Amino acid sequence: MYASTKDILEKANREGYAVGAFNFNNMEFLEAIIEAAEAEKAPVIVATSEGAMKYLGNGNPFRGAKLAYAMVKLLADSVSVPVALHLDHGKHMEFILYALSAGYSSVMIDLSAEPFEKNLEGTKKVVELAHPLGISVEAELGKLAGIEDNVSSRESVLVDPDEAKIFVEKTGVDFLAPAIGTSHGAFKFKGEAKLDYERLKKVKEYTKLPLVLHGASMVPQEKVELANKYGAEIKGAKGVPADALKKAIELGINKVNVDTDLRITFTAEIRKVLSEKKSEIDPRKILGPGRDALVEVIRDRIKFLGSSGKA
Ligand code: G3H
Ligand code: 13P
Ligand code: ZN
Repeated sequence: MYASTKDILEKANREGYAVGAFNFNNMEFLEAIIEAAEAEKAPVIVATSEGAMKYLGNGNPFRGAKLAYAMVKLLADSVSVPVALHLDHGKHMEFILYALSAGYSSVMIDLSAEPFEKNLEGTKKVVELAHPLGISVEAELGKLAGIEDNVSSRESVLVDPDEAKIFVEKTGVDFLAPAIGTSHGAFKFKGEAKLDYERLKKVKEYTKLPLVLHGASMVPQEKVELANKYGAEIKGAKGVPADALKKAIELGINKVNVDTDLRITFTAEIRKVLSEKKSEIDPRKILGPGRDALVEVIRDRIKFLGSSGKA
């Protein structure tokens, strides 16, 4: 059923598990996510970035937002598990407004690249617009980047827990994404993977909100190898290690954002089909195996996060 992001994440926060927030840009990804969630009896969040809205609308993001909502609503209402639609990394007010008016369950206002005060003011404004519509809001503090060893570079990119406390009190935001050392994409850590658990612990203690981990893909090596075997060039791709993700969830992460793992999985499968079946021209036989492979990876991830059976 189509659901509220806030209801999904507040339950996860109370009971101490994480829910997957999976990005999609087309129907195949969306169907795979919802099928996997239903099979796992798990609540799930599906997310479009601003770029996904543009892509879905073939250049017209408002049309894309309405199409995203229409697809999600129809599919969500055909399954028993809660499915929420979220705007990921909304950086421009027009995209926030498209999501609010299309019927999204929640929006992220991402002003993390701005100075603290500007982030606070902008987030507060979005909360004032969204809450009367029953739509919840996520914001981000700190910048997504790998942690360097020296203290000054850590301080400049990672969340400041004292700022997080003030930010949450003054904005009324519903969920917070604290930067603790992850980054987006397939190449997350140059050397050893490091996350700042002490900061995470403090942010949870000071805010008590459902917390969000961006850049949370684990980058499964068997999928990287499969993609490379069939012509991809993503050697050295590295994600968040299993023990690090587990620990982050134990310390209060309730929403785990995953895009890269789905991209790698889908691409690997499509490359395999195109390479092995050179006479195939039916798009259903090319994209279908990609969708099937996604279902398996998403089910694995949902199990790992602890949200199986929580619907
Ligand atoms: O956080 C970023 C997501 O992976 C979305 O990426 O802006 O390329 O759609 P995108
Ligand atoms: P990944 O690139 O690790 O999948 O992160 C996705 C994300 O944070 C979307 O907001
Ligand atoms: Zn992100």
